[in-house]
Amino acid sequence: MFLHRRATIVGLSALTLFSHHAQASVFTDILNAFKSSRDCNSCHGILIPALQAASNTDTDFVGNLTALCTVAKLADNDVCIGDFALAGPILAHSLRGMSSNGTTATKLCSAVFGLCQPPPVTPFTVPLPPPTFDSHAQPVPLYGIHQPFKVVHMSDVHVDRSYSAGADANCTKPICCRHFADEANPPREPAGAFGESRCDSPIDLAQSMLGAIRQVAGDARFAVLTGDVVAHDTWLANRSEVTVDLDSWNDEMLGGLPFKIYPALGNHDTSPVNSFPKTGTHSNITSQWVYDLEETGWQPWIGRAAGEQEDHTSGSYAIVVPETNLRVISINTMFWYRQNLWLYDTDTPIPDPNGILAFLAHQLQVAEGAGQRAWVIGHIPPGVSDFDHDSSNYYNQIVQRYKGTIAGQFFGHTHKDEFQIAYSDFSNRNAATADSIVWIAPSLTPTDGNPAFRVYDIDPDTFDVVDSKTYIALILGRDSYGPLISDGGLKPTDPLDAPFWHAVTEAFVANDTAFQLYNARKSRVNIGDVPACTGACKNQTICQNQAARSQDNCVSRLSFLVSHSHFRFPLHLPPSRESI
Ligand SMILES: *[C@@H]1O[C@H](CO)[C@@H](O)[C@H](O)[C@H]1NC(C)=O
Ligand SMILES: *[C@@H]1O[C@H](CO)[C@@H](O)[C@H](O)[C@H]1NC(C)=O
Ligand SMILES: *[C@@H]1O[C@H](CO)[C@@H](O)[C@H](O)[C@H]1NC(C)=O
Ligand SMILES: *[C@@H]1O[C@H](CO)[C@@H](O)[C@H](O)[C@H]1NC(C)=O
Ligand SMILES: *[C@@H]1O[C@H](CO)[C@@H](O)[C@H](O)[C@H]1NC(C)=O
Ligand SMILES: *[C@@H]1O[C@H](CO)[C@@H](O)[C@H](O)[C@H]1NC(C)=O
Ligand SMILES: *[C@@H]1O[C@H](CO)[C@@H](O)[C@H](O)[C@H]1NC(C)=O
Repeated sequence: MFLHRRATIVGLSALTLFSHHAQASVFTDILNAFKSSRDCNSCHGILIPALQAASNTDTDFVGNLTALCTVAKLADNDVCIGDFALAGPILAHSLRGMSSNGTTATKLCSAVFGLCQPPPVTPFTVPLPPPTFDSHAQPVPLYGIHQPFKVVHMSDVHVDRSYSAGADANCTKPICCRHFADEANPPREPAGAFGESRCDSPIDLAQSMLGAIRQVAGDARFAVLTGDVVAHDTWLANRSEVTVDLDSWNDEMLGGLPFKIYPALGNHDTSPVNSFPKTGTHSNITSQWVYDLEETGWQPWIGRAAGEQEDHTSGSYAIVVPETNLRVISINTMFWYRQNLWLYDTDTPIPDPNGILAFLAHQLQVAEGAGQRAWVIGHIPPGVSDFDHDSSNYYNQIVQRYKGTIAGQFFGHTHKDEFQIAYSDFSNRNAATADSIVWIAPSLTPTDGNPAFRVYDIDPDTFDVVDSKTYIALILGRDSYGPLISDGGLKPTDPLDAPFWHAVTEAFVANDTAFQLYNARKSRVNIGDVPACTGACKNQTICQNQAARSQDNCVSRLSFLVSHSHFRFPLHLPPSRESI
């Protein structure tokens, strides 16, 4: 994410910043190429000297990138040095495997530099068996017969174990509130105990969430955690820090919540960030140590068999929730993530890296055969622009085949309180074609809005969502949580399924007041605390809600750049809300 943002700035501004620096080296060639980079063709042009630079040692390549970053002042020097020391060798590895003019290069130019549109989807038919069971032989579960049970959804906790109250909350690094070596003295804005909008979650904020969950949902059946436990200190987060972060949060959840937790991996839950090498990648950088670590770390909740499965399936596993007919399938989405730089090391398309699509399809097939319903949980929602278009298309083929079995999909990553809808026909999106719903939970980390978690009411027979409540902490009111929104009040007698949410998007088009309310609640703030979202912004937002397939999300190259620019919401809410 941060690498992406900085790299985008390179494409836009390096030309002026570098015009006075004449250095006779590959470095200069790359800079010269940047100077003329305006479009996709010129990005392919940049890759010619970049490929040449990557043909040297990793050390030289990292030196070149770091120099680019520091000379252009794309980030503080320590951030440039740390980020590129970690990510540089991966980028070099991929550049050595690609040609400068192929589809892989276009994908890299799209994902990292924002200079190309994503290429058209490479057609691929995911091999899927036809339905195996006689639908008349299976009892069809009925909705609304029995009392719902509660499920908690936590996401993107990003706990910063080096957060220091009193450290500067206003700095120029990706996260603040740590005593960095170059900290202003005295601090411009001393950090409070429970978090700040430019900082990740202090341990006290994370503990206060666990306490609030015990109060409002201590009787929940289970919880899901959709990834990103580690802080955004991408330039520092090495294997030992990530290990401590993952282990500590597992311990804190185990001690703090009296029910089972089904977790999924996030793109920050490894080191280097976003680094999930494909099986067979020739490198000494791996993420197998993360899978090994969570085999043990998640075992108190998922048990030994699913733990072993997680370890052998690159972080994915499935489990039938005890005493229910619900199969929870937890998938590692990072082999479909455009910021995973390992994905660009060949010109040959690989439709299913590490077999995650095959794993998902197999688990859904088993669920269908057993008459179970299934939830898919993961980190990166399938419709966002950073979800590779090819992978999202193939994923959606599986969703369409098994939509009768999938009762819901649960993701995080965006830090926003939102949703996406899948359709049987994306060229004809209406309530009749809406057929699967993606629930995207807001983050605990306060970097994109007030800290939050969700509690669902779940029908115990169909496993549909009956109601969804988001609880938020008022940062200014410190550790108090209050209910922000209950969707079920809108339509209490039917499940909150894909046709329901499609109707909500139609209401947004017709009723701008409702839309602006939703847009503010996405960040857990009040109308007025975010700019009104009108015109193209509104179209884009509604289009994204109507697109659980990334090729259909209306994100153009330009709007992609805008949506990824740094923007901090003010976090001012009146202290009048109901508190718990
Ligand atoms: C860039 O890499 C080249 C080797 O290709 C090396 O000679 C040069 O010193 C590097 N430049 C910087 C600024 O590190
Ligand atoms: C890419 O460039 C190589 C070498 O210049 C050439 O052989 C190849 O045909 C080109 N491929 C495409 C897709 O243009
Ligand atoms: C944060 O720091 C910047 C740079 O020193 C300064 O311009 C800005 O006013 C500070 N913001 C606050 C709220 O103190
Ligand atoms: C990992 O990072 C921590 C904190 O930045 C540091 O103290 C430690 O020395 C690093 N470990 C290694 C092996 O580099
Ligand atoms: C991989 O190898 C390089 C050089 O051979 C070394 O600098 C680096 O520390 C190694 N990384 C890991 C994770 O072992
Ligand atoms: C529009 O939405 C607002 C907010 O939900 C609601 O109060 C209002 O009644 C709606 N207007 C119409 C005409 O439905
Ligand atoms: C938004 O989309 C509608 C069609 O749904 C279109 O008529 C309108 O021109 C679009 N507005 C903008 C600002 O793109």
